[in-house]
Amino acid sequence: MRKKIVAGNWKMNKNSSETADLLTQLMSKIPDTTAEVMVSPTFVNLAEAVKQLADSSIEVVAQNMHFAEKGAYTGEISSNMLQSIGIETVILGHSERRAYFGEDDALLAKKVDAALKANMRVILCFGEELQDRKGGDHFKVVESQLKNGLFHVDKSQWGKIVLAYEPVWAIGTGETASPEQAQEMHAFIRETIAAAYDQDTAQIVTILYGGSVKPANANEIFSKPDVDGGLIGGAALVADDFAAIVAAI
Ligand code: 13P
Repeated sequence: MRKKIVAGNWKMNKNSSETADLLTQLMSKIPDTTAEVMVSPTFVNLAEAVKQLADSSIEVVAQNMHFAEKGAYTGEISSNMLQSIGIETVILGHSERRAYFGEDDALLAKKVDAALKANMRVILCFGEELQDRKGGDHFKVVESQLKNGLFHVDKSQWGKIVLAYEPVWAIGTGETASPEQAQEMHAFIRETIAAAYDQDTAQIVTILYGGSVKPANANEIFSKPDVDGGLIGGAALVADDFAAIVAAI
């Protein structure tokens, strides 16, 4: 059985008191579920969030990290720093990191390695841009992101990998990939993993969908057989909406 996950990507939102408020609301509103539920406040609020959620089943995860263990990388955060405050999962390769901060597959491969070396869990994001989809290149783009950013990882490490397919054209736009488009791509991702590794590896990996998931569409998206949950942006900042999305899983 694959793990189901609903993770909130808070991006650069919520200051310290706002973070505490939202977490308080989430603790009372998130329904009991067998799925894993995650939130990702910004770096400066992670330590407080971990303390606040100490008795909760909601996991606090980071939105990014550097590949080096320490050193002269002004403004950056290492796996060791995250683990020292109780963070064991990191989101890597979000399309906003790729687009605005120049993160490419080669850099992400290094970050993936650093996280796995530290025994952290990775949520690796990838997905095509609108022009790729319009040009019919979406499968090719996704395959190349996986090959260049992830497929160097040894099979034994795949228990620590979660994938998040996020078509860039559906992020923050209100435009969601249709449940059929999501299913089609998720099935393709599994086929690609099966070809590079084997069926077992492909069947066991959790693949999340991200891009304008809302309470109104979560049920239908999550009902697709190869969609194992969601990475939620805007709706993760509204307690009732995130709770409703968790309920949908
Ligand atoms: P939205 O849910 O706001 O479209 O954002 C999706 C996303 O980028 C999650 O990582």
